[in-house]
Amino acid sequence: MILGVNVDHVATVRQARMTFEPDPVTAATLAVLGGADGITVHLREDRRHIQDRDLRLLREVVPVELNLEMAATDEMIGIAVELRPDLVTIVPEKREELTTEGGLDLHSSGDKLHDAVKRLKREGIPVSLFIAPSIVDVDVSKEIGADMVEIHTGHYANARGEEQREELKRVTASVERARLNGLHANAGHGLTYYNVRPVASIEGLRGLYIGHSIISRALFVGIERAVTEMKRLVG
Ligand code: PXP
Repeated sequence: MILGVNVDHVATVRQARMTFEPDPVTAATLAVLGGADGITVHLREDRRHIQDRDLRLLREVVPVELNLEMAATDEMIGIAVELRPDLVTIVPEKREELTTEGGLDLHSSGDKLHDAVKRLKREGIPVSLFIAPSIVDVDVSKEIGADMVEIHTGHYANARGEEQREELKRVTASVERARLNGLHANAGHGLTYYNVRPVASIEGLRGLYIGHSIISRALFVGIERAVTEMKRLVG
């Protein structure tokens, strides 16, 4: 199982003071030492955490999968083409949100996504779409031409009891459907040391993308150890 570690939160702390520390690039290097199979960053339109400079340095020092999360805009496509990440994950982006709140709206922005996927793939960059756990959305992702999907686990993470079990079933069914369609299937958002295991046990899942929980634990135990502990849980 690929464990992609999102280091945006390190940049959030840095940007709180508009200074040079803590550096998400250093965090990425330590995460790799701890066993991360990938590093993820979300370059937001408003640059609220990750900066363009971080991307350039990460591209130089990250020896594992560098996954760039971004909105499907001309500016971001241009940056991705120049940077050449190992993977682009297209996410919805709203200025007022605290974090990516939902999956992509494939129905109202299908043409825009189709165009973005085509342009990135033409440059040889694999593309993943961040989608709700929905069979229909998996099928539409295939039509749009994505190589992979990342199934949004935010609702699973927030739900409890029966509602959580039902949501896990939807995530599992979406992973199965993706594989049937010949798409790689990943999952992420809201996953923690306490809720990750049932998701990590889903058959055929390619990878998990986790940020907040790992960086939170890292405050107390250090990044290497926090990543190693998560890696042990996801297998
Ligand atoms: N996957 C995607 C597409 C995301 O946008 C995020 C949040 O940046 C994550 C995974 C990681 O979520 P969390 O920080 O809750 O682990």
